Amino acid sequence: CRLHVFLNYIFILTYIFGLIVGWVRSVRTQKAHIFLHVNDGSSLQSLQVVAGAELNDQLLTFGSAVEVTGILKKSPHQKQAVELEAQRIHVIGECDPVDFPFKIKERHNLEYLRQFPHLRCRTNAFSSLLRIRSEATAAFHSFFKDNGFVQIHTPVITSNDCEGAGELFQVEPSSVGDAHREFFFSVPAFLTVSGQLHLEVMSGAFSRVYTFGPTFRAENSQSRRHLAEFYMVEAELGFLRSLNDLTKVMEDMFKSTTEQVLARCVEDVDLFHRHRLSLQWGCDLKTEHEKHLVKHCGNVPVFVTDYPYRLKPFYARANQDPPQNTAAAVDLLVPGVGELCGGSLREERLDVLTAHLEDAGLEDTYDWYLDLRRFGSVPHGGFGLGFERFLQCVLGVDNIKDVIPFPRYSHSCLL
Ligand code: 4AD
Repeated sequence: CRLHVFLNYIFILTYIFGLIVGWVRSVRTQKAHIFLHVNDGSSLQSLQVVAGAELNDQLLTFGSAVEVTGILKKSPHQKQAVELEAQRIHVIGECDPVDFPFKIKERHNLEYLRQFPHLRCRTNAFSSLLRIRSEATAAFHSFFKDNGFVQIHTPVITSNDCEGAGELFQVEPSSVGDAHREFFFSVPAFLTVSGQLHLEVMSGAFSRVYTFGPTFRAENSQSRRHLAEFYMVEAELGFLRSLNDLTKVMEDMFKSTTEQVLARCVEDVDLFHRHRLSLQWGCDLKTEHEKHLVKHCGNVPVFVTDYPYRLKPFYARANQDPPQNTAAAVDLLVPGVGELCGGSLREERLDVLTAHLEDAGLEDTYDWYLDLRRFGSVPHGGFGLGFERFLQCVLGVDNIKDVIPFPRYSHSCLL
């Protein structure tokens, strides 16, 4: 907990005055004393507050917001170093225990918490998850910084459908009524499905670039691993010679970020692991295939490479060596989740790429993309990792809606 400590210079050897603001996580009353646990969200740890019974207040309930001032003392309990002997307790915001959806000492499962997107961050389990999410975000940024990548802010609004799957949310101003209104951007514009093409532009100048931002897919899916809005970590590397060079970076990134999260969030990860045991497991057929592959290989992360060419978008590089009719593309499958990361070498040969775009009738739309091959083109490749699926994998969370603050999926946009 962030505890504000004031040293009283006159009585410095005797007293250390402390002030804490936070939310009451437990209240216990004994004859002469009350014991509170107050948590301010900075960590899983709550500070124990001991107060005389005269400071008791009926508004002092589980979930209420308080400000406590008192004297900080060495705690007689082994689990905590200090406790606050309260001199004053002020209830800043009351919390009616009857209406509050969470009950003291009850372990609510994640499915139950999902019904309260505006309040679930007040529970131990979800606040742990969000601290881990924050640490994981920092872990990805430090991996890229340590490895010489330049961060690029790729646009959220774009006129391209990078994956060519037609899962686009169109963007237009909300004003209605003018049937002859022109497109706001003069062309149809969409929320991005991937920042890859913009990263490819930048890799032509910076060699190693990455982006980490929200991504949108109009997938009509309620599955436990799809969202309409999710965060994607994407990287693009120039002067790349082989798919092995790409999978090496993917592997290093996965290991380094996982290690950092597990090392820095020990208590939060532990709590989340204990909490998830109340969960029920279930998945669709495609996930079953991926899970089977992972299991077959000993329940460890697995790279699957060289997909049939026709399954991959126009930008994937066709393999020259056998296996024929395949693309130099790779997916990273992980236990419990399935596909975590997708990547490929990009088609850098102007003639081959032009032929592919012509086949798809896209040569005019992507003339700017062909320019990247016309001027100083280099062999390159990249990948995208679903950030929520990463969290699902590290924490063993069954449903993707439980690892994002405000989940968006078809027929659901709460708040
Ligand atoms: O495999 P995908 O579609 O690859 C791309 O978008 C590439 N353009 C990325 C690149 O090479 N720069 O998506 C990448 C990852 C998937 O492996 C998956 O983890 C995640 O994004 N993902 C989703 N996560 C949550 N909900 C969805 N609807 C997702 N769709 C993809």
